[in-house]
Amino acid sequence: MEQVPRLREALRLDLVVVNGENASHGYGLSPGIAEDLFRAGVDVITLGNHAWDRRDMIGHIGTAPRIIRPVNYPPGTPGQGSHVVVLADGRKALVVNVMGRLFMDAMDDPFRAVGEVLSRHRLGVTVQAIIVDVHAEATSEKLAFGHVFDGRVSLVVGTHTHVPTADHRILVGGTAYQTDAGMCGDYDSVIGMGKEASVARFVRKMPGERPQPADGPASVAGIMVETDDATGLAVRMAPIRVGGLLAPSMPDF
Ligand SMILES: [Fe+2]
Repeated sequence: MEQVPRLREALRLDLVVVNGENASHGYGLSPGIAEDLFRAGVDVITLGNHAWDRRDMIGHIGTAPRIIRPVNYPPGTPGQGSHVVVLADGRKALVVNVMGRLFMDAMDDPFRAVGEVLSRHRLGVTVQAIIVDVHAEATSEKLAFGHVFDGRVSLVVGTHTHVPTADHRILVGGTAYQTDAGMCGDYDSVIGMGKEASVARFVRKMPGERPQPADGPASVAGIMVETDDATGLAVRMAPIRVGGLLAPSMPDF
């Protein structure tokens, strides 16, 4: 959280989107922590399979349009799956959150759900940028997402596996892509949770204590993308990695 204002200024960021579904001590997002993230300079918070771990989010999300949950939850689910941010200078960015189906809970068709949202917007015309957070386990499904929407959105970026992938690139149609943005947290862990309790779940195959977040030095992991307002497509992209155990990386544009 303390890095957001610093990065916003150093990199002259127009828009900051974070996945916040594990921000409340590893399980869900509380309204209070969402407010802290917004105060730090975050514009939109996406969720995922842990969207409702904090039950108070179920009632809160309808009052907080800048918090979005996967668009392919069944009809009637509280909240929205997309949000249009209007910048101070009038430019607009559409942010969409969607959940994969491979090795995840059964959900509505993610490809069709995102296609339906995109049918209401035109990249470079009604919105200057479109960001899709694909919250999914399988790299194959996320790659398929990138190719299906290549040229129609600014960025397809994966979340959920908590490990940043080294495949960030601009696809042939002009969409920036990264299979997973990685997590912000202690990487001396099992995807952010304390090693002992997490390892025990695999080794002993018995119910044990609920894993708690590892509390060592945290790495911030993410991606920065520069887009062309006229087309909405990506011009440059680079990974952001600050602090903790990960090798540092800072965009130089
Ligand atoms: Fe997740």
